[in-house]
Amino acid sequence: MKAVLVNGSPRASGNTSLALKEIEGVLVEEGFEVTSIQVGHLPIRGCLACGKCRELGRCVIDDAVNRDAALFREADAVVFASPVYYGMANGTLVSYLQRLFYSSHIDWRYKVGAAVAIARRGGLSSTFDELNKFFSITGMTVAGGQYWNGVYGRAAGEAKEDIEGLQQMRTLARHIAFLVKATALEKAKEGGLPSDEKPVYTNFVR
Ligand SMILES: Cc1cc2nc3c(=O)[nH]c(=O)nc-3n(C[C@H](O)[C@H](O)[C@H](O)COP(=O)(O)O)c2cc1C
Repeated sequence: MKAVLVNGSPRASGNTSLALKEIEGVLVEEGFEVTSIQVGHLPIRGCLACGKCRELGRCVIDDAVNRDAALFREADAVVFASPVYYGMANGTLVSYLQRLFYSSHIDWRYKVGAAVAIARRGGLSSTFDELNKFFSITGMTVAGGQYWNGVYGRAAGEAKEDIEGLQQMRTLARHIAFLVKATALEKAKEGGLPSDEKPVYTNFVR
């Protein structure tokens, strides 16, 4: 079982990293191979909408998005964690995820996804909702926990004091592990996972 944890903060040892470490500890106990990626400090620009990825199966901007795609292709579970910036996810993380999901042509269906937001005071829910968008449009299984996954803290390290937030992280990790194991059992049965209809693709003018 493989999990990829994405830290959207530019601070390597900040509160987002503390939240993810709590998740990682439980996932390792549950038998996962965990890969941690930090993206918030990287110069990652947004999607150019050039459409070249439809031919190439990768992004024309050859950066961490292309480099990391193989990890996500192999993953059974992913966690996207972001510090809250103005009530939203970190802009670099959003650019990274939008380009990853648009360009990589990964079959995300039935992979388990979880979103986590970290804030000083406000915007946890809106950031959590923003990150969840990637899971529900791609047929992923969204893991929940005991609340809308969030941890409080401002200065690096403060998250250690949010004992409820850290408990949420451990609960979430256990739920992720259960869902990955349950999916593997179902996949192994005759017929495996359900096959979908060929998608119909329309817009509002035709
Ligand atoms: C540009 C910027 C905007 C921020 N906006 C918010 C905000 O809207 N709400 C909030 O509660 N905290 C906000 N914060 C505080 C961070 O979310 C908080 O310090 C968080 O712990 C940072 O996570 P990190 O240590 O992993 O970087 C902001 C911080 C920065 C740098």
